[in-house]
Amino acid sequence: MQLKDKVALVTGGRGGIGRAICARFLKEGATVFAADLSEHGSLEDAATDDSRFVKLDVTSEADAKAAMAKVDAECGRLDVLVNAAGIEIEHTIEQTSLDDWNRIFAINVTGTFLTSKHALPLMRQAAASGTGASIINFGSYDGFIADPGLAAYCASKGAVHALTRAMACDHGPEGIRVNAVCPGYVDTPMLRSFFSGEGSGAGGGSLDTVLDAVKAVHPTRTCGTPEDIANLVNWLASDEARYASGQLWVLDGGLSAQVQQMRL
Ligand SMILES: NC(=O)c1ccc[n+]([C@@H]2O[C@H](COP(=O)([O-])OP(=O)(O)OC[C@H]3O[C@@H](n4cnc5c(N)ncnc54)[C@H](O)[C@@H]3O)[C@@H](O)[C@H]2O)c1
Repeated sequence: MQLKDKVALVTGGRGGIGRAICARFLKEGATVFAADLSEHGSLEDAATDDSRFVKLDVTSEADAKAAMAKVDAECGRLDVLVNAAGIEIEHTIEQTSLDDWNRIFAINVTGTFLTSKHALPLMRQAAASGTGASIINFGSYDGFIADPGLAAYCASKGAVHALTRAMACDHGPEGIRVNAVCPGYVDTPMLRSFFSGEGSGAGGGSLDTVLDAVKAVHPTRTCGTPEDIANLVNWLASDEARYASGQLWVLDGGLSAQVQQMRL
């Protein structure tokens, strides 16, 4: 078990990817706090697991403080923080209202900042008493290259990438590693919403047709699953990754390695 005796908190822990991370962490022996807006997150019908649920709106500093106070009271340390809460808004900049722009930055960027800021005292404690602590942020391949109609989302993920490097530089000397996982297309409620939206270039086909077409443009001929992402997050959380910090780990089935002409 790679995470035995570790304590982890996962924001967006009841969403598609967050849920798979919680399940994997539990399997690896960690005590897991799943932090989300609601018990069911983005997956209304999914079964719950043995994670301890924390109600958290990542845009609220009071919520961030309260979540860390709960972890402190119950466990007295935090070894692993995963900032997986996120939203996307499917618009060009012209279609994006200022309120929507501010909302996506509040969740994807400010949320990562606030949760990490208030986790640091507990993580420093864990790092000092053991083998180091690990923060894993969620970027996206959209922080490197753009999907059509996702302007504010792409910008917010670029900001998370830069924040990840800055946090790694500042907190590495304290024994806290900071990385970002940058997924490509992963089959979750977020991706299904994107392909059902008007701006995705999906051309109005059925969801299954669109997903098949998307798989076909990957060099690996498949989309990712939440479990694929959880595999990498688990490694970054583990002591095996002691030399890994400040990096943006793209996990996209080779999609962003491929020149577009290969699709013609
Ligand atoms: N699915 C993909 O293809 C993909 C690709 C690249 C990056 N990502 C990133 O991975 C992360 C997880 O995405 P997902 O696909 O699992 O999405 P999802 O919609 O299934 O899950 C996101 C979760 O975040 C929660 N959330 C939203 N706003 C919140 C808030 N203010 N406070 C707390 N929780 C909040 C939601 O309730 C939901 O449970 C996101 O950061 C996303 O941007 C996903």
